[in-house]
Amino acid sequence: MMQKTPQGIDYLSELPEVRPHIHETRKFPDGFLWGSATSSHQVEGDNRNNDWWDWEKASGHIIDGTVSGAACEQYTRYEEDLDLAKSLHQNAHRLSIEWSRIEPEEGKWDIDATVHYRRVLEAAKARGMQVMLTCWHFTLPKWFVAKGGLESQDAVECFERYVRYLAVEYGDLVDQWVTINEPMIYLVQSYGIGVWPPGVSSPFKSVHVFSAMCRAHRRAYKAIHGVLDGRGAPVVVGIAQNVITFEPYRKQSLIDTLFVWFADRTFNHQFFIWTRGLHDFIGINYYFHYRVKVRPTKVSQFFYEVHTENRETSDLGWEINAPAIFDAIMAMARYKLPIFITEHGVANADDGKRPRVLVAALKEVYHAIRAGVDIRGYFHWSLIDNFEWEKGYTGRFGLVAIDFQTQKRTPRRSAYVYADICKENGIPHTLLRFVGHGVRW
Ligand code: BGC
Repeated sequence: MMQKTPQGIDYLSELPEVRPHIHETRKFPDGFLWGSATSSHQVEGDNRNNDWWDWEKASGHIIDGTVSGAACEQYTRYEEDLDLAKSLHQNAHRLSIEWSRIEPEEGKWDIDATVHYRRVLEAAKARGMQVMLTCWHFTLPKWFVAKGGLESQDAVECFERYVRYLAVEYGDLVDQWVTINEPMIYLVQSYGIGVWPPGVSSPFKSVHVFSAMCRAHRRAYKAIHGVLDGRGAPVVVGIAQNVITFEPYRKQSLIDTLFVWFADRTFNHQFFIWTRGLHDFIGINYYFHYRVKVRPTKVSQFFYEVHTENRETSDLGWEINAPAIFDAIMAMARYKLPIFITEHGVANADDGKRPRVLVAALKEVYHAIRAGVDIRGYFHWSLIDNFEWEKGYTGRFGLVAIDFQTQKRTPRRSAYVYADICKENGIPHTLLRFVGHGVRW
């Protein structure tokens, strides 16, 4: 183990000593993928041709008043970032393609952008990393939005054509395909509460867009397989689903319990039910544990997430409950497909909590594997701090901190903790000190 950062900081020094006792590293299966995840608009910078670019400029849309702007300049600094990931012993990387760069006008493919992403994927491969590629991570080209976005008549055909193009261009470089990132989050934010573009709040349109996303996935899944099957390499296609663990706030309350059942089924499972048989894996993005209290008398706020207890929260006020990732995994194990943790992380600028959150969650991933679940990899969100959608630059999710004035990258303590785990392909016993094991006695 490294235990010391290159700056000479011993990241275990503040923790209680462990009375010497022998315990093996909790080893993960051979070939387990250890990576981190990003998305194009959040890191690349200068993504002028999508729906977020103008949306960000309108007052009130981004809570800290920032815009994505240059973001992390990853469009030009991708080699530096991949070098960082490699130096931190990551053997896989998840990234997304910016549709608005590849197809800036309807039906016109941009050759420079196509070549650019090929170089990015080759750069990851040259560093010995597997590539998980997301086709759509929340942002849409302006031309697509102008014709109605996912509400338009031929939305599904447009998406299929784009994904087919990616399969043809990058099929030799991609190990896992994610057609859509978090369809349910997109639906809630863009068509439910309307805090993301197109800023709609309509149950009727939500149903329509949900159905369009299910069809889009089905067509994309078949398109990728159609292009790549028979070439010899396995073709692995799925989605990244934001899985929320729900809990009734009042344990004895029938209405809270019923609502939790309904919320779990709708939010976590409905997409898989409507696209059954068209997933080669289940991708889990895990961030949220909700204690739900229902107020049947208040139509406008029928249910709410209880914040009244003193729970530990992230910098964004989200409850931290890393061990509950076990429940999220078990809930998705019912599909009997390989699982990837396609995202998991915490907004925590001073990094005081991230190492513990990381170790606590991975301990549960380890136990889920021991319980028989076929988990193939873990991608931490995120490699670097980035543009956090409507929260602007407020939420710092990076293993690596970014100074957005200078673009300087500085790995946080947690980057080294994670690096040790990646290097060992397991959780060294000493790291369990982060979750309270081995308190001096
Ligand atoms: C999304 C990311 C986002 C992260 C943290 C996930 O829902 O895929 O784009 O930055 O959560 O909020």
